[in-house]
Amino acid sequence: MADKPTKGLADVVAASTALSDIDGQAGRLFYRGYDIHDLAGRTTFEETAHLLQCGTLPTREQLAAYGAELVQGRTLGALVEANVAEVAAKQAPMEALRTLVSLAGADDPDKDSNAPEANRRKAARLTAQQPLLVARYHAARTGTRIPEPDPALSVAANFLLQITGRAADTRAVEIFDACLVLHADHTMNASTFAARVCAATLSDMHSAVVAAIGTLKGPLHGGANEQVMRTLEALDPSGVAQAVRDRLAAGEKIMGFGHRVYKTEDPRATHLRKMSQELAEASGDDTYYRMSKEMEEVVFETKGLYPNVDFYAATVYHYLGIPTDLFTPVFSVSRMSGWTAHVIEQHADNRLIRPDSEYIGERDQKWKPIGER
Ligand code: COA
Repeated sequence: MADKPTKGLADVVAASTALSDIDGQAGRLFYRGYDIHDLAGRTTFEETAHLLQCGTLPTREQLAAYGAELVQGRTLGALVEANVAEVAAKQAPMEALRTLVSLAGADDPDKDSNAPEANRRKAARLTAQQPLLVARYHAARTGTRIPEPDPALSVAANFLLQITGRAADTRAVEIFDACLVLHADHTMNASTFAARVCAATLSDMHSAVVAAIGTLKGPLHGGANEQVMRTLEALDPSGVAQAVRDRLAAGEKIMGFGHRVYKTEDPRATHLRKMSQELAEASGDDTYYRMSKEMEEVVFETKGLYPNVDFYAATVYHYLGIPTDLFTPVFSVSRMSGWTAHVIEQHADNRLIRPDSEYIGERDQKWKPIGER
């Protein structure tokens, strides 16, 4: 008979990884041994993706080669182009991405191979395509044409250009780039676990990423950043504290707070709070930032909970001009680098992931023919 399960697999070590590590007590996060505080704002998203997918922070030559691969990968397959308008008309952003990434797999030249080199190439292509898929979807649903990707621009700069239709200023690009770095990987979070379970059946990288996107979509995971903004938009700025207290008293969860692993402040939230404040002040209307600070204080006072990555990411994206329903897709733009690195790692040393379950149903039932039930 199986042991009692740990609900939600809390504290269960489900895989070995050299990609990222969390010290939940100290509130620290590392990518391949590098402290996130050393990377954010100093290392670009492209360098971070190379670190995760290829194993090292790149030299200038390696970065040039990887960057060229990303630029070349910024194209969408014929199947995506043929279907994006209908998908955009019928599906919400995360549903659409689930569909579009699946369609993109059909046109990937390495789709039938899980070999290490094929996986690495697919990882770069998926990382290059994801921001383009979000932008293309947004253009299709708004009936606009996105500016062509500019090969001279970084992933962050291109995305802001394609989503907002205008070139972002240098500081906005730096901030968004740091956001992408902060969201790139996070040990055995739910979507990464889903990707690894799929990959461990020796299924392909696109299938694993589709599983991850479906998992990220939920409000307890990546969907929280959108919910944070919806909460801020719904609150009366002068009644934040009371409204939050009332919600907590009613047993409601406040999105953007709490974490399975961090027992102190999420180190990513430390950066995002500062970015939110900077952008709020620069925008000339810091209402949402001030409301966020007040929410943070009340939730801590009442429940002892800290903000997680999604809390201040919401206002950062808002001030950057990103539509609220694209916040979770933005998360996927960054996390694609981590998911794909995990698939590479899983395939490199694979064993089927197949846990046990505790049976809690009826036993010794007596079968009866349909007419006697
Ligand atoms: N607001 C209010 N209460 C919260 C809370 C929140 N955001 N997060 C956790 N809690 C409370 C729970 O109600 C529970 O209280 P109880 O023991 O009195 O019942 C306790 O804290 C433990 O919560 P639980 O949901 O069991 O923790 P978990 O480890 O399973 O879940 C999260 C972790 C992240 C899913 C959870 O904190 C949450 O739902 N947060 C909001 C969604 C979110 O921001 N997700 C993004 C994560 S990066």
